[in-house]
Amino acid sequence: MPATVIVGAQWGDEGKGKIVDLLAQHADVVCRYQGGPNAGNTVVSGGETFKFRHIPTGILWGKVCVIAAGCVVDPGVLVGELDGLEARGISTETLRLSGNAHLVMPWHVALDGASERRLGRLRIGTTRRGIGPAYADKAARLGIRVQDLLEPKILRQKIETALGEKNVWLERVYGAEPLELESLAAGLEGYAQRLRPYVADTSLLVDRALRAGRVVLLAGAQGTLLDLDHGTYPFVTSSSPLAAAAATSVGMGPSRIDSVLGVAKAYVTRVGEGPFPTEIAGSEGARVRELGAEFGTVTGRERRCGWLDLVALRFAVRVNGITSLALTKLDVLSTFAELPVCTRYRLRDGSESDDFPSHQGDFHHARPVYSVLEGWRQPIDAARSLEDLPPAARRYIEVVEQALEVEITLVGIGAERERVLSARGAEALVDA
Ligand code: IMP
Repeated sequence: MPATVIVGAQWGDEGKGKIVDLLAQHADVVCRYQGGPNAGNTVVSGGETFKFRHIPTGILWGKVCVIAAGCVVDPGVLVGELDGLEARGISTETLRLSGNAHLVMPWHVALDGASERRLGRLRIGTTRRGIGPAYADKAARLGIRVQDLLEPKILRQKIETALGEKNVWLERVYGAEPLELESLAAGLEGYAQRLRPYVADTSLLVDRALRAGRVVLLAGAQGTLLDLDHGTYPFVTSSSPLAAAAATSVGMGPSRIDSVLGVAKAYVTRVGEGPFPTEIAGSEGARVRELGAEFGTVTGRERRCGWLDLVALRFAVRVNGITSLALTKLDVLSTFAELPVCTRYRLRDGSESDDFPSHQGDFHHARPVYSVLEGWRQPIDAARSLEDLPPAARRYIEVVEQALEVEITLVGIGAERERVLSARGAEALVDA
């Protein structure tokens, strides 16, 4: 009964969407387990580009797709995504939305933006999609859930109660415009009608699928280092992208997870603020950004680029229990003569460590210690198997495998679906 978690091993944007898309063809159910419209997955299929925010990319294969209880859903964004897919002839009939997922409301978006503006230089650099405020209300037990959309009277009452408080914050604390009850309630009632058919008990659905021997993919959003508990707090997102969170968010026991596929870029990117030891300064960083088209799918922001960080990746292997790894965008490194890879951090007391620092101050001051690997300096996008890769590219992969003690089973060498090389065939990866 294989259940496979697919988890970002860095700061998000590792190319999880494409890997999920590749594996989804051999799966029966694809669940998104946390995050909300802060995520953006791009899949190129049949020459067409699809961008996803809420819906798992498995919808392109006609698979049952679940937005699980641990997600926060912006109803307007989700409806826009559904309409966009339907308009392109992609059926969304197989989507199931957990009634327990929380809604991102317009005041969450307004508060996220207002809070970031007020923080100024100390801002987190959020996507300003209301994620933090929505999860905060969930924890404070003030949230509005998907199931509330099914009860128009209760929904209106909840909106009214919430607005009473949120407008005080918006006006008095942030000097922002208040939100108006009538137009907001009317908009939500429209979304409620549209979303009603998709609402389901998704925990039960996944349980039944696993009992029937179906293949279930559990796809995380963002990445390990953005985890609320174990990431680079406070420069993190407000949910848990870690593999174990898949179980709680979906509503299944952790013992039912069979394998954890980590996804990492062959280099590192980070959007938003916060420490980044291997960040590449100046024109070389800009070169990686251009070659890798490293601009945010959600916000269009420039991504900060850095060399591969094996200290952080080992940490990701540890906290997620990663059993195999997909290394994406290897082709982006093809023109570099030398490829530094960070194997240790030099700490502020002058000592060196290959363990990821548990103290925020140590991480802020950590300096990378590099091994410099030889580049392959030739295009690799024509390779059809791992054996076709030039020796220096294979060596790069081996160094990562040895440092992590984890097998690299997939290697990304281009944007299209076919440009993912597999050690054993994608089918074998989900058939644990
Ligand atoms: P939030 O999730 O919008 O609250 O943003 C918190 C931090 O997570 C910021 O540094 C964002 O740039 C980052 N973040 C959120 N979602 C993503 C993502 O999908 N990819 C990369 N970074 C993300």
